[in-house]
Amino acid sequence: MLETERLTIRFGGHVAVDAVSCRFVPGTLTAIVGPNGAGKTTYFNLVSGQLKATSGRVLLDGVDITAEPASARTHRGLGRAFQLTQLFPQLSVLENVRLAVQSRRREGLRLWSVWLDQRATLERARELVEQVALGDRADALAASLPHGDQRKLEVAMLMALEPSVYMFDEPTAGMSVDDVPVVLDLIRALKARGDKTILLVEHKMDVVRELADRIVVLHNGQCVADGRPADVIASAVVQQAYLGGAAPEATPSPRYEEPPVRTIPAVRERRPHDHG
Ligand SMILES: Nc1ncnc2c1ncn2[C@@H]1O[C@H](COP(=O)(O)OP(=O)(O)OP(=O)(O)O)[C@@H](O)[C@H]1O
Ligand SMILES: [Mg+2]
Repeated sequence: MLETERLTIRFGGHVAVDAVSCRFVPGTLTAIVGPNGAGKTTYFNLVSGQLKATSGRVLLDGVDITAEPASARTHRGLGRAFQLTQLFPQLSVLENVRLAVQSRRREGLRLWSVWLDQRATLERARELVEQVALGDRADALAASLPHGDQRKLEVAMLMALEPSVYMFDEPTAGMSVDDVPVVLDLIRALKARGDKTILLVEHKMDVVRELADRIVVLHNGQCVADGRPADVIASAVVQQAYLGGAAPEATPSPRYEEPPVRTIPAVRERRPHDHG
């Protein structure tokens, strides 16, 4: 299980992620939602190790990994979609995916030292390229791909690592209408496997509603709601914090009955944690 305990980062005077405590259970897809600038991407960066926390902890299966670099966390099965900067732009789509497959299969070896590798690796890479619907672009240079195809390549490379925890940050942002279902189908398939921990930052509420087993709402760096989708979407705190007081759809706003959702209206009222 992945957990964060009062995870916090400050940029100067600005607290971008503010004492966020969450648990992510295997077999569960958690959508992380919140307005622009809420701290969602920064939270991912803290979990994956791209950023160093000011305070708080990240735990994976009970092990404190807060001090570990991103590479060590990847090795432990924490999978963050590759950023474009991590692709090899002058290699083809297939070669990029093949390197990702190899880095998974040959633990501890450098990518390039296993360049001439066996058929199985190539077959797996081809399979992944097909799965993200890039089969007809397998030989194109990564650098030459349009934005939507690059995002699909990132997903293929993430899947090549076979992580236990998948972190998707707006995976369909900027994609064409044809590409969106490809990526959503892959996330659905991962979810159907039942053993993966999936974190999904997503602005499209219809996608959240369909895929999420749980919703965490960040607002001003704080976790303001955490619970079942229907409850969170209906909760007053979300209506105000995220949806600006408006109903999520053309349905009447829910009344003020207390929903069974963990809301954290004022973090400052909470007692300091013991770290035992
Ligand atoms: N490296 C940084 N230095 C200073 N401030 C930063 C840095 N990274 C993020 N921030 C700030 O932290 C806050 C949270 O940003 P973040 O990108 O995590 O938001 P987000 O929820 O992902 O937003 P969006 O939905 O637009 O992607 C913002 O105010 C942002 O300007
Ligand atoms: Mg973001």
